[in-house]
Amino acid sequence: RPAQDSGPGRPAPSVVAHRGASEDAPEHTLAAYRKAIEDGADALECDVRLTADGHLVCVHDRRVNRTSNGRGAVSALELADLATLDFGSWKATPDEPEAPDRRYADPERTGVLTLERLLELVADADRRVELAVETKHPTRWAGQVEERLVTLLDRFGHTARPGRPAAERPAVRVMSFSARSLHRLQLAAPEIPSVYLMQFLTPRHRDGRLPSGVSIAGPGIRILRAHPEYVERAHRAGHRVHVWTVNEPEDVALCRDLGVDAVITNRPKQVRKQLGLG
Ligand code: G3P
Ligand code: CA
Repeated sequence: RPAQDSGPGRPAPSVVAHRGASEDAPEHTLAAYRKAIEDGADALECDVRLTADGHLVCVHDRRVNRTSNGRGAVSALELADLATLDFGSWKATPDEPEAPDRRYADPERTGVLTLERLLELVADADRRVELAVETKHPTRWAGQVEERLVTLLDRFGHTARPGRPAAERPAVRVMSFSARSLHRLQLAAPEIPSVYLMQFLTPRHRDGRLPSGVSIAGPGIRILRAHPEYVERAHRAGHRVHVWTVNEPEDVALCRDLGVDAVITNRPKQVRKQLGLG
């Protein structure tokens, strides 16, 4: 990534918008990702799940209940079912108080977002924007999530092919808590960097080592609060460190001071400002 200056001797972490600018707009909607791009995010994070008819959609939870006016598991619904739901009106913001008819007013704020549409948004951006795609509960699907993901990434030019120079490939990375999912992705597209997400620091990873083939460590911020030495260990082992979910100013400062490579945050604008980038 390009070096960014943030003061006392270290480059600032790059800023990744978690589920889009999800503090200001409903998570995983086109509106949230447009806002993240406007806010200057270096990269966009999204979670993906497979629908019953095999489409990858950007939804965090197993069920749609929390973030839409529908009910049920994403895996049991078809894309056409999801397209009838409102994924935005659950979230009120100071400038847009809750309005029951808002879904008719702004489909970008309320429609279900497919990964395909998000890839289009990234491709059409007027500057380079990276994408970090997280596979959710991939073990249920015996490889289908990864297969579909690589097919889509390939279609959008993110995989290596003869005659497709690496420098021209937009930067996409894949993330997962599942080493098995990352392994499948590496087999299909070894050129795409992978991020191993960790909720806890297990003895196996304490020294900075990661599952084979993984280049980036993805610890939760709680790991860094308890084990700040982890960043240096991971760096010494040759890995970059991308930390989630970094929203509080003291956590942003901790990541900056430890030399973290990327912070994944719901508030890209405020974090960039704190880092002296915006
Ligand atoms: O970016 C990683 C982070 O998103 C993992 O946690 O639950 O927000 O998907 P979660
Ligand atoms: Ca995620």
